Amino acid sequence: MKQLNIGLFGFGVVGEGIYQVLSQKPQLKSNIRKIVIKHPDKKRNAPSELFSVNMDDILEDDKIDVVIELIDDADAAFEIAKKALQKGKDVVSANKKMIAQHHVELIDLQRENNVSFLYEAAVCGSVPILRNLEEYYDNDLLNYVRGIVNGSTNYILTKMRSGTETYDVALKAAQENGFAESDPTLDVEGIDASYKLSIITLHAFGRLISSKDVLRKGITSLKPDDFQYAAEKGYIIKLIANSTISEDGRLIPTVLPTFVDKRETLALVNNEYNGVLIGSALADEQFLYGKGAGRFPTSSAVLSDISALRYNYKYELRKGFVNGFDGNLPVIRKFYIGFNTGTPFDSSIFTSIDELYRSREHEYITGEIELNKLRDSGILTDKNLSIIAFT
Ligand code: HSE
Repeated sequence: MKQLNIGLFGFGVVGEGIYQVLSQKPQLKSNIRKIVIKHPDKKRNAPSELFSVNMDDILEDDKIDVVIELIDDADAAFEIAKKALQKGKDVVSANKKMIAQHHVELIDLQRENNVSFLYEAAVCGSVPILRNLEEYYDNDLLNYVRGIVNGSTNYILTKMRSGTETYDVALKAAQENGFAESDPTLDVEGIDASYKLSIITLHAFGRLISSKDVLRKGITSLKPDDFQYAAEKGYIIKLIANSTISEDGRLIPTVLPTFVDKRETLALVNNEYNGVLIGSALADEQFLYGKGAGRFPTSSAVLSDISALRYNYKYELRKGFVNGFDGNLPVIRKFYIGFNTGTPFDSSIFTSIDELYRSREHEYITGEIELNKLRDSGILTDKNLSIIAFT
């Protein structure tokens, strides 16, 4: 087995995890030659001579053949990945924002420079969703990819549902456990899930979308009354990322709090676990499950990419790169909208209404809404409204 010489950018939760695993397992024959960091004064659990603040100590070192990029800043990460690929180095990244924003450019750079750019860790942590979509589901016609792709929000929802922790306490625990982004708004507003969904959508369907195309609502507006409604009806609230191909071939990308029947597979995905259902014409439905966040699960995906470099594995994206979204969502779905009694709300957004409830404190309406109308009304950004989709 050939020795890999690695340059590591970033020594946060995952960077340190990778360092620990590689230094404890010499049989992996992967030597970290340099670690570039931003803040040299922080105390680190690794020999000080490994660290540098100069990115050229990795990019200009011809002995380094693999760059692992694990930094937060998506713009800086893109500059690093681009230069490394142009220098003929393989790149492994976990930066979903950077990949979602520069997907085609990065794949082109990979091709032009005949190197590998791998990023299994960017989507669902340890769950090998991308490699499966690329290889196993290469021929079968996929109808949807739907699931829980953000560990922090799933952790928070699990604790809120069981009543063991409030939103604030659960969010703090997700941060302390290293699941959450440094800016946790990205998790709780569903933005991180939208990046991941856009990456999944390209690998699943060959359709290119921006994360901004995703119809999105996070979990910050959910209230105890919503969890009570869910419990009474036999549902569990999950933040579900969903790319579905409609009957007329249209892509419908959404990230929404969703009522999942408590007997359904996705209802069993708790805490920081992720779970993704893949719906296909021949295999029907399949399920991938595992830890989606945290030091060692994410390190596991990075390690798998490092191993794949030994046989020059590349994402081929054989399904193509067609523009995946024309901005039109002429699809009707059932929703629940809940709010404190007295909150101004115009119910004419509903095409039809199933239930209307009002108590002294809480109101909710369930019924059908066209997705175009939901997006254009602006109510998805109204912090006073809980908006939950039915599956
Ligand atoms: N903040 C992300 C999550 C980390 O909670 O899923 C893994 O991508």
